[in-house]
Amino acid sequence: MGSRSFTVSISNTGEEFVCSEEDNLLKGMEQLSRKGIPVGCRGGGCGVCKVQIDAGEFRTIKMSRAYVTHEEEASGVVLACRVFPQSDVALTVLGKMVKKFELYALPARRAAPAPASAPQPAGVASQPGDGQEAP
Ligand code: FES
Repeated sequence: MGSRSFTVSISNTGEEFVCSEEDNLLKGMEQLSRKGIPVGCRGGGCGVCKVQIDAGEFRTIKMSRAYVTHEEEASGVVLACRVFPQSDVALTVLGKMVKKFELYALPARRAAPAPASAPQPAGVASQPGDGQEAP
């Protein structure tokens, strides 16, 4: 049987990515393939990938207590490279790279663009008696 995949949404930017239950959230996030992804040691030891899990089920493996205390982990603050989704997940990027992360958000994931052109008001295309009538 194959592994399950889940949708992970990022509250900072509105971006979403799909992550297998066998991949950690940081690896999934890297699939966005853009600048600003908070990637460091990928091993739970540098703290740059710190996130808050806002909703969803997940499992964790060992991470540095220098960056995430037991109390933080109990409230959903974890290191993305040490977390595996068990359902759809909503998260907020924290950490020291959060400004860079938000700066490089994918434009397609931001709010929908305005319509290309506004409709023209009726009756402005021509004026009667402007000297262009046939003789
Ligand atoms: S990348 Fe270093 S702790 Fe996650």
